[in-house]
Amino acid sequence: MKAVVIREFGNPEGLEVVDVPAPVPGPGQVRITTEAIGVGGVDAVIRRATLAAYGFRKGHLLGSEVAGSVTAVGEGVDPSWTGRRVWAFTGLSGGYAEQAVAAVADVLPLPDGLTGVDAVTLGSSGVVAHFALDRARFTPGETVLVRGAAGSIGVTAVQLAARGGAGAVAVTTASEERGARLRELGATHVLDRSGEGGPDTPSGFDVVIDVVAGPALSSFLDRLNPNGRYLAVGVVAGQPPADFGMRLMNAFRRSLSFATFSADTVPGPAAQAVRSSQFADAAHGDLRTVVHDVLPLDQAVLAHREMDAGTVFGRIVLTP
Ligand SMILES: NC(=O)c1ccc[n+]([C@@H]2O[C@H](COP(=O)([O-])OP(=O)(O)OC[C@H]3O[C@@H](n4cnc5c(N)ncnc54)[C@H](OP(=O)(O)O)[C@@H]3O)[C@@H](O)[C@H]2O)c1
Repeated sequence: MKAVVIREFGNPEGLEVVDVPAPVPGPGQVRITTEAIGVGGVDAVIRRATLAAYGFRKGHLLGSEVAGSVTAVGEGVDPSWTGRRVWAFTGLSGGYAEQAVAAVADVLPLPDGLTGVDAVTLGSSGVVAHFALDRARFTPGETVLVRGAAGSIGVTAVQLAARGGAGAVAVTTASEERGARLRELGATHVLDRSGEGGPDTPSGFDVVIDVVAGPALSSFLDRLNPNGRYLAVGVVAGQPPADFGMRLMNAFRRSLSFATFSADTVPGPAAQAVRSSQFADAAHGDLRTVVHDVLPLDQAVLAHREMDAGTVFGRIVLTP
C-alpha cells in the first residue's frame, strides 16, 4: 500500500511516499481502508522534531487519525465491525496510508450525515478543545482568549466557548481574513499574534487556551485576570522561555493558574463520549467542521508546506 514517511526531519520535503506492506490488525485491533486522513499540527511538530522527546526515528509513518471502512479485525474483536464506516485514532503514527490499524477502543462509528472528511477534521481536535475548556473550569459569563485560534483545535474551542455562554471570546490570528472567519464561528474580539486588538479588547481574561506557546507565552500570562486559568495545549511556536514560571510566581497575589493539557490524560470512554456527541452535533449542523483543503495522499508535502506557511484555517485532509 501507499504510505507517507519521514525520510528527513525538518522541512516538508523530507516527507516521502513509499510502498509498504499493509498492516495486519493485532489482538484488539481493526484494520481500516482509509477514505480521509487528518493532517494535524502535531504531525508538523513531529516532522520538525520540535519536541525531540517524542523520540521518533527516520522512516516514521506520520498521521494519527483516519476515517474509512473496517476491512479486517484482529483476535478478540467482534467481527460485526467489518464493513462499518468509522473514525479512528491510530496513535502518533500510521495514519498517512491507504490502510491503517487502530485499537477498537479508539474507533467510533460515523453517524449518518457525517463525512469521513468532517470526522477527521473534528475527531481529535474537538476533544482537545472540549477538555481544555473543561480543565480550565470555564463557566458561562467568563472571558476567554484562544491563542492560535485558526487551527483545528482553536476553531472548535471558539465555537464551544461561544456556545457555552462566554462573556467574550477573543482570538489571536495573523490574518484579518481568518479573523473575520473566526468571528463567524463566535469570536467577539480579534487580536494579532502579539495580543494587540481594538480599543474594546477586554483588559484581561479568565481563561486562556494556548495552542501556540513559544517565546511570547509569558506576555499572555500577564493578560490573565485574578484567579485566571492558563491552559497550554500546544507548542506550535516551540517551547516557552525557561523563566515563564518566575513570571507566574511574581504574580503570586493574583492567584493565577498555569496548566498543560494533553488529551492523552483523558480516559478513553470519556473522550469517546464527547467525540460521539460532537459528531452528532456536526451531523446536525450544530457544530461546524472547518476543512481548509482536501489533497491526495501523495501531496502530503504540499499539505505540510501549507501548514508551515501558516495559511491553514482549520484542518487539511488527505485522501488516498
Ligand atoms: N493537548 C493535546 O492533547 C493536543 C492534541 C493534539 C495536538 N496538540 C498540539 O496542538 C498543536 C496543533 O494544534 P492545531 O492543529 O490546532 O494548530 P495549528 O493549526 O498548527 O496552529 C494554530 C494556529 O497558530 C498560529 N500560529 C502558527 N505559528 C505561530 C507563531 N509562531 N506564533 C503565533 N501563532 C502562530 C496560526 O494562526 P495564524 O497564522 O492565524 O496566527 C495557526 O493557524 C500542536 O502543538 C500539537 O502538538 C495538542
